[in-house]
Amino acid sequence: MPQLAPLQSAQLATIATPALIIDGQKVDRNLRRMADYARRHQLQLRPHTKTHKSLFLAAKQLEAGPCAGLTVAKVGEAEVLKSATNSIMIAYPTVDRARTDAIAELAHSGNIVVAVDSAFAVDALSDSASRAGSTVGVLVDLDVGFHRTGLQTVEQSLDLAQHIDRASGLALNGLFIYPGHVTGSTEQRHAAMSRVAELVDDAHHRWQQAGLAMPIVSGGTTPSAFDSHLVPHTTEIRPGTYIFNDLNIWRGGYCELDDCAATIVATVVSNAVPGKVILDAGSKTLTSDRCGPAPDSGHGYIVEHPEAMIISRCEAHPRLGERVTIVPNHICPCVNLQTQIWFREASDSEELQAICVDARGRLS
Ligand SMILES: Cc1ncc(COP(=O)(O)O)c(C=O)c1O
Repeated sequence: MPQLAPLQSAQLATIATPALIIDGQKVDRNLRRMADYARRHQLQLRPHTKTHKSLFLAAKQLEAGPCAGLTVAKVGEAEVLKSATNSIMIAYPTVDRARTDAIAELAHSGNIVVAVDSAFAVDALSDSASRAGSTVGVLVDLDVGFHRTGLQTVEQSLDLAQHIDRASGLALNGLFIYPGHVTGSTEQRHAAMSRVAELVDDAHHRWQQAGLAMPIVSGGTTPSAFDSHLVPHTTEIRPGTYIFNDLNIWRGGYCELDDCAATIVATVVSNAVPGKVILDAGSKTLTSDRCGPAPDSGHGYIVEHPEAMIISRCEAHPRLGERVTIVPNHICPCVNLQTQIWFREASDSEELQAICVDARGRLS
């Protein structure tokens, strides 16, 4: 097992646990690595903010560049994040009037782009934008293999693009893909990306023949982020988890354990039952998410007891009152369970700065 240095700070010993601590140096390093890659391949970043939901961290991403704006999943998140940027992509379908009206309203004060995969969603957005007198940017979501959302064929993507092009209040901005299925070894990822590339190239060609431009081709997710240049026509990518990384990313082989910038400090609160120690961090802190690449590895990696599995397999049990540092399986839902997280500028700095999870609970 690789070892991570436990967090040390006098202030850390005094804050209430469970507490989510962000290592600013690791965040900077993760942001820089992605920004360098994007610059090298003339790609723009549009970081997915669902990982942190925080204006403070969004500002760091925008500063690291080269950013076309930010990505959110929900309209409520866009309403919060709009104070960080005037260019927001909503990367999840919106079909109901409450949401499409809110999007049309947001489009008065900034550039809003929405990914859709149905004429139903297009008509709802068009209706709202026409009534509001604003223009909403739209991307056609093409399923390139993850099979969550997205049109199933290139022909369908062209049909929907033509529908958008005719709709009032909307601007056809291009194509949206989510290569979330692209995981595994470099060879496996490259093979999967070449199939994605064929689909995108085909769509680009057919749209062009039909006289439709594709100014944006939006892709990207953390495991395949550094393979994004393999898909022609890609203009921007939306990695999210890369800002912190987590056990999914580490055990998948996409980062080092030392790149995990977010840890949860918990306290051992009971050892009264023989053979067990109990932490103050359960599913409402660590979530019940298993680690995808290592599903039997428990609910997090305990830095001070790397052989432990939350927490039954451990030769030297943590003491009552001991504080332990946990790298979670999946950081995004863990952040979403906190109203405030702690940011530490440098690994050896004593000071912890409280940061608000501004868009927490903005689920619609
Ligand atoms: C549509 C979309 N784009 C981008 C991302 C970012 O993926 P990751 O967190 O792996 O970087 C997600 C993650 O949920 C997503 O749903």
